[in-house]
Amino acid sequence: MDSVPRLETPPHEASRVAVPVKARGLAERYLDVRRATVALCDSLSAEDCVVQSMPDASPAKWHLAHTTWFFETFLLLRGAGRYRPFKPGFEVLFNSYYNSVGEQHPRPRRGMITRPGLDEVRAYRAHVDEEVFLLLDRGAAADLLEVLGLGIQHEQQHQELILTDLKHLLSCNPMRPAYAPRRESAGAAAAPPGWISREEALRWIGHGGEGFCFDNEMPRHRQLVAAFEIAVRPVVNSEYLEFMADGGYRKPELWLSDGWATIRSEGWEAPLYWLREESRWLQFTLSGVREIAPGEPVVHVSYYEADAFARWAGARLPTEAEWETAASGRPVEGNFAESLRLHPAPASAGPAPGQPVQIFGDVWEWTQSAYAPYPGYQPPAGALGEYNGKFMCNQMVLRGGSCVTPRSHIRSTYRNFFYPRDRWQFSGIRLARGIR
Ligand SMILES: [Fe+2]
Repeated sequence: MDSVPRLETPPHEASRVAVPVKARGLAERYLDVRRATVALCDSLSAEDCVVQSMPDASPAKWHLAHTTWFFETFLLLRGAGRYRPFKPGFEVLFNSYYNSVGEQHPRPRRGMITRPGLDEVRAYRAHVDEEVFLLLDRGAAADLLEVLGLGIQHEQQHQELILTDLKHLLSCNPMRPAYAPRRESAGAAAAPPGWISREEALRWIGHGGEGFCFDNEMPRHRQLVAAFEIAVRPVVNSEYLEFMADGGYRKPELWLSDGWATIRSEGWEAPLYWLREESRWLQFTLSGVREIAPGEPVVHVSYYEADAFARWAGARLPTEAEWETAASGRPVEGNFAESLRLHPAPASAGPAPGQPVQIFGDVWEWTQSAYAPYPGYQPPAGALGEYNGKFMCNQMVLRGGSCVTPRSHIRSTYRNFFYPRDRWQFSGIRLARGIR
């Protein structure tokens, strides 16, 4: 590899490793993403990083370590005979769900991991970063570079989870502490409601071009999509308040059976993080408690709530093929994590004729599509086949990314998935309806 031009790109201060030019782009992206993850935790105390507020949410320290374990396990241990794991036991503590790799520490008990401490986890990260660069320096095979790319995307997913999990944790504190200062929204009022239509057509669905995608976005295939209309923008708080004021949470005819059972057993009467104060509603955000802004997209609703709202509104949720049809070709622009608002905002510009607004960013949009394999889907061989494929049961697809998703992580074919009752993600609603 000596004849290859090299780039000095230190993974951290203690190290300077030359990287072959062909891996430069990936190496730089790796560094950027790894640094961004650490930066998310800069303002957190060690205590903030350890506590687990519910089984679904993981402590920030666990996320910092698990993303590192991913590179160690799937890249370093495969790519270099000389690499030895940083510390025995981490392969159990920080394995999330890869049964073919080995045993896992139980997910609901991740908050019990007081050791290793935060400093040791930081050292783990630095060690793995350095080893990744040494591997690149030696010249990694194409399949390993693919794993590196997957690990980068995986880490971005966990950046979003750090924020969603932290929001849940901070919401449990009666002092309602803020994670970050509030940033005002660029927009003030919601774009006017409306519909855009698409003709019936045989549509190409799924990823087919250049660039990264997850295995669950493939294979690209054709689907007959009947004529439909989709809302020009997501449902906003003022509309959701109307639903609530109309007794939406008290009308069983609006709810799926599982949804009705859930709101009864959980006592839900508003989206997650909404707080009743006498006759008005407030909401907890990553910037503390604020009034409900009428023009902001409603956020932190379950699939059940999204479905019931749609029924109340005389509409339905889009299928993921409809959603992708509407989003296809649209620029990936919007309110993402980089805006640092960390909260959905009213639309900052009106829609172009016939096009949706806020299709990317702000809120993940529930679709009525069950998370299932595309025709001909094959999970990758080996442990990484567990990444997506084994979850294709009992979950629903969400599309479009949110205000805590990194912008470079999302695309029109991206399929997120959660259980219908989940609402700690930044999940919202966009309506659709058929055309008769
Ligand atoms: Fe993970």
